[in-house]
Amino acid sequence: MRRYAVFGSPVAHSQSPRIHAAFARQAGIALEYVAIEAGHADFASRLAASGVDGASVTLPLKEDAFALCGERTSARAQRAGAVNTLIREGAHWRGDNTDGLGLVRDLTERHGLDLRDRRVLLLGAGGAARGVAPALLDAGIRALYIANRTAARADALADALGEPARVHPRGWDDLPALGEFDLLVNATSATRGGALPALPMALAAPRSVAVDLGYGEAAVAFLAWARAAGGAQALDGLGMLVEQAAESFLLWHGVRPDTDPVYAQLRAQADALVSAD
Ligand code: ATR
Repeated sequence: MRRYAVFGSPVAHSQSPRIHAAFARQAGIALEYVAIEAGHADFASRLAASGVDGASVTLPLKEDAFALCGERTSARAQRAGAVNTLIREGAHWRGDNTDGLGLVRDLTERHGLDLRDRRVLLLGAGGAARGVAPALLDAGIRALYIANRTAARADALADALGEPARVHPRGWDDLPALGEFDLLVNATSATRGGALPALPMALAAPRSVAVDLGYGEAAVAFLAWARAAGGAQALDGLGMLVEQAAESFLLWHGVRPDTDPVYAQLRAQADALVSAD
């Protein structure tokens, strides 16, 4: 049986094994998919010891996975500087990144948004932000403002994206002066620690859509802010999670799964947890 895994830390609560098991049942493919805890120090050795044919890579290992692949990376992984999908090629690994496409698919196909000509605010300039910024630009947005606590990191991401006419790096202190956005994307890890720095309500308009790349507890603070600010929709990252997984599944198995039933199941489970609180 072919064997796959998700590597990260912490990884015990990852939904990826459930998602890939559901896709595999749908496609009639026999596979094993497990979660393997690994940090920077032991990722390479655990990956080698695992004997997997392919792997998903999550926090904090996406840059490590990119480095591990050397030259064998897709154009979209190179633009993100990060790899979330590893494909075995004999003794080597090829790396790709399906995060950005996953986000755009979720927003456009599941939630019916038209991203063309939109004014977008990306909060954060770390690995998660780098993963999604190129795909947002490719989707035809008009402007991408990148706001980060450490302004130099927003500058570095903007430089790497190489589109000065559309990409505008800013510091957190600049937020009150930026006006309204059609789409607000939280790609900071701030809320994982439970603390979202104050965001001006004026960033959101009644038409605005807010999306947190996280889900569960990690998404609560930003989505509560978005609802209080009066935007049209506040979305968590569960849809993106399922869509990026589907794209990885396609790379490994050559079959595109139907994501809707899998998303519906995870959504119901997540909503049940919230109403149980
Ligand atoms: P990830 O891979 O999740 O993006 P990362 O590369 O460590 O993780 O990046 C974390 C992001 O969250 C960064 O943009 C970080 O801002 P800094 O570059 O200034 O560190 C942002 N972040 C983390 N904690 C934050 C906080 N309390 N307030 C604002 N931004 C925060």
